Amino acid sequence: MPNRLIDALSISHPIIQAPMAGGITTAELVTAVSEAGALGMIGAGYLDAESTRHQIHEVKAETDKPFGINLFVPSPYKEEKDIIQKAQLSLQPYLEKLGSLGVESAFTSYEQTLEIFYRQVNVVIEEQVRVCSFTFGMPSSDVIHSLKQAGIYTIGTATTLSEALAIEAAGMDAVVLQGSEAGGHRGNFLAGVEQSMIGLMALIPQTVDQVNIPVIAAGGIMDRRGVQAAQCLGAEGAQLGTAFLTCKESGANPLYKQAILEGQQEDKTTLTKAFSGKAARGIENDFIREMRKFEQELPDFPIQNTLTKSIRSAAAQHNDRNMMSLWCGQNPNLAEPITAQQLMHKLVDEA
Ligand SMILES: Cc1cc2nc3c(=O)[nH]c(=O)nc-3n(C[C@H](O)[C@H](O)[C@H](O)COP(=O)(O)O)c2cc1C
Repeated sequence: MPNRLIDALSISHPIIQAPMAGGITTAELVTAVSEAGALGMIGAGYLDAESTRHQIHEVKAETDKPFGINLFVPSPYKEEKDIIQKAQLSLQPYLEKLGSLGVESAFTSYEQTLEIFYRQVNVVIEEQVRVCSFTFGMPSSDVIHSLKQAGIYTIGTATTLSEALAIEAAGMDAVVLQGSEAGGHRGNFLAGVEQSMIGLMALIPQTVDQVNIPVIAAGGIMDRRGVQAAQCLGAEGAQLGTAFLTCKESGANPLYKQAILEGQQEDKTTLTKAFSGKAARGIENDFIREMRKFEQELPDFPIQNTLTKSIRSAAAQHNDRNMMSLWCGQNPNLAEPITAQQLMHKLVDEA
């Protein structure tokens, strides 16, 4: 079967290891995936330009196979003192529980975030990274144009048909369709999160009927059956996050990997804004349950993310998974503690 992703990206398998910002997509993981013939992706969402370049260099030092990078498109947000103070109060009990750590009070402004984003785009161009994908919105036409001029393959993230159409109209080369099953943050940018929770089974066919660029399916895909099902519905590629997260090369905290691998029967995943101010899917824990009453009045992303940073890192140090963010898709039962190469063998040969 002809496959436009395989042709355009010079890869052997139309499988993408999801970019997972926050230290999960280590150079080892990205390299192992690309060496196995799929597309490894660096999650650079939380990095500055210098660290972005450093991670690109780390991957380049290990492989000459194609790999990609993913950036967060900044959206305007305000620093509202009242809302921030309320959020700080709601977080106080957790700070005390973990031993009175100071809570971050210096926030990066929207303008600074935008500046960092533009610098990252320049780094991607200077370093000639093969693929650049985006989430949380669409980059400006100038950014898309500069990347395409430099020969870089651009991918947007959509959670609805309208978003996929907008990504295609903006001239991007492919679209990741993020189903409601997906782990991590929601990439919706045209409608609210409630209107943008569509399962992949419904989302893929309605999109491929109207969109001409290649569609890459993401959300709950863990094995060969999932990849084939997505292909059956018309997707040309599959992007897997949770499946790669528990791989040996991933930089996820061991406790986090264990939570996915061992908690499969009783733990359920849920959507929460409590950790970052933006809706994301993860394993439900005490922090999520207790913070639910504040969900409607939390500061925007990334302010809430900054506010909970010391809680999340102290919780990891105290081995307390009840206060860590455990992003995970709806299919943790199929996660395995194997190497990325073993996972690739299963994805490709299992049929
Ligand atoms: C821990 C984690 C971090 C993620 N970080 C990013 C990210 O930085 N950029 C992005 O575009 N998607 C990110 N995602 C979403 C993935 O791209 C993808 O939509 C999701 O993993 C698919 O669902 P699955 O986890 O069930 O495979 C993340 C997902 C997880 C689980």
